[in-house]
Amino acid sequence: MEVFVTRALPGGAIDRLAAEHEVDVWPERLTRPRAGLLARVREVHGLLSLLTDRIDAELIEAAPNLRAISNYAVGVDNVDVDEAAARGIPVGNTPGVLTDTTADLALALMLGIGRRLVEGDAYVRRGEWRTWEPGLLLGRDLHRATVGIVGFGRIGQTVARRLEGFECTVLNTSRSGGVAFEELLERSDFVSLHTPLTPETRGLIDERALRRMKTTAYLVNTARGPVVDTDALTAALHAGELAGAALDVTDPEPLPARHPLLDAPNLLVLPHLGSATHATRERMADMAVDNLLAALRGEPMPHQVN
Ligand code: DGY
Repeated sequence: MEVFVTRALPGGAIDRLAAEHEVDVWPERLTRPRAGLLARVREVHGLLSLLTDRIDAELIEAAPNLRAISNYAVGVDNVDVDEAAARGIPVGNTPGVLTDTTADLALALMLGIGRRLVEGDAYVRRGEWRTWEPGLLLGRDLHRATVGIVGFGRIGQTVARRLEGFECTVLNTSRSGGVAFEELLERSDFVSLHTPLTPETRGLIDERALRRMKTTAYLVNTARGPVVDTDALTAALHAGELAGAALDVTDPEPLPARHPLLDAPNLLVLPHLGSATHATRERMADMAVDNLLAALRGEPMPHQVN
């Protein structure tokens, strides 16, 4: 069968796919322009997509032979899962394999923003380091801090386990329990986001939510950019309404170099690196390929979301 892979993936997983199917991998660094993608999917039976591909009703409709969509991510907010289901097309994702790697990055961001790592590095490189100073670049401790975890699924729980080593008081809030969202915002020294992007979580961290946070608290986002209202965060940072924000994900994504958010103080931004280690990205590719191979054989995907 014909399979289109929307970008080259690390490791050897695509070779396994190519051993069974006719595989076309988009070779460019940036995504295939929309018109070309719509034309290309007309023929394909299998699609291996990335979180940067909008797999919406229009695209699904443009692919009359499509039998499987395998998304190279745990999040599937870029895929119209209901539309796929309505057409009997299974959608796969890559849960579990990136949990530890993403949790590690959440901790790195907490320490990075709290202890001002990027500022310190820039300070040295600018040649400003003249002497050891009692008041230089003072930050805030993660150890024994109160950390609020918003969204207590696999990644949120893994972050909580790591924080035990830092003797933190961990609060959590999710659809199924924990403390009230408002209480978590009011009590936490670090608020770390781990929710999927859904209509309910879009804009969850808005102006009101930011106002509830302590002025000494940090916001950390390794979930999805649109969970945070970017304009409200920019204003809150400028107004000193919170101590800082460390974002692995932003809205928009990618964030243009001249975006107003980047002028805000006490901000650490990464280009969506949550799962970006060699081992994890290769495991994700294996999983995405396994999902596709199964579906094209007419079997259930090992990790199917619909
Ligand atoms: C995901 O899988 O959803 C991450 O954002 C990228 O690995």
